[in-house]
Amino acid sequence: MNKKLFIAGNWKSYKGVQEAKGWFEKFASLSDSNPFDWSKITAVLCPPYTSLPFAYEQIRAHKLSLLLGGQDVSSFGAGAYTGEINVEQLSEFATWTIIGHSERRRNLGETDTLLFDKVKAAKSGGLKVMYCVQDEAVMVPEGVDIIAYEPPWAISAVSGGVAQNVESANRVCEKIVGHHPSVPVIYGGSTTPENVVSFIKQPHISGVLPGGASMDPEKFFTMIKNMVAVTP
Ligand code: PGA
Repeated sequence: MNKKLFIAGNWKSYKGVQEAKGWFEKFASLSDSNPFDWSKITAVLCPPYTSLPFAYEQIRAHKLSLLLGGQDVSSFGAGAYTGEINVEQLSEFATWTIIGHSERRRNLGETDTLLFDKVKAAKSGGLKVMYCVQDEAVMVPEGVDIIAYEPPWAISAVSGGVAQNVESANRVCEKIVGHHPSVPVIYGGSTTPENVVSFIKQPHISGVLPGGASMDPEKFFTMIKNMVAVTP
């Protein structure tokens, strides 16, 4: 397996700063007591906006090899756009952002046109983009850095924790790679410390996007550790 691994934890709309504090304390103590080569993986954490400044401080205070990402970003710049967080604001804390998650497409009616505008805004502001697609037919805009294939029915909140079969997931990722050969593709949907290695061992899967498992510091840490352990 000769690929640079990628993992992004998506806390969704969970955790306030107090809970985030406990998460970072535990993650930092696990990190201190289990050293390994973090250069083999890019590990991103995407907390809610309200915890981003705190997470930013914690990463520095504990010297963690984690990057931060937003779960979304506005397609607009600074201006009269009530409730929006723009790229410049997000970039104060984050280097990445998720765009196009199926929960936003479904619950907030986000369309391809809007999502393409968000990618354009993110890229022009220097953010790296993880673009979520729900199957191989979903359009992907130019310039995204990672494509996250997440079948909505396999997301733990929907499936109760049943992931897609790894070979089927790999077949879909292979088709996506075929359309976008220079962009790494990751899988999301009920990934755990137990199944993560079987996903990343697939030839067309370069990493994972855990939601539920990333909210538990021990699970998220173990996922990273297990991924690195099987990487030469
Ligand atoms: P899950 O979420 O790992 O809880 O299935 C993944 C996601 O929605 O990004």
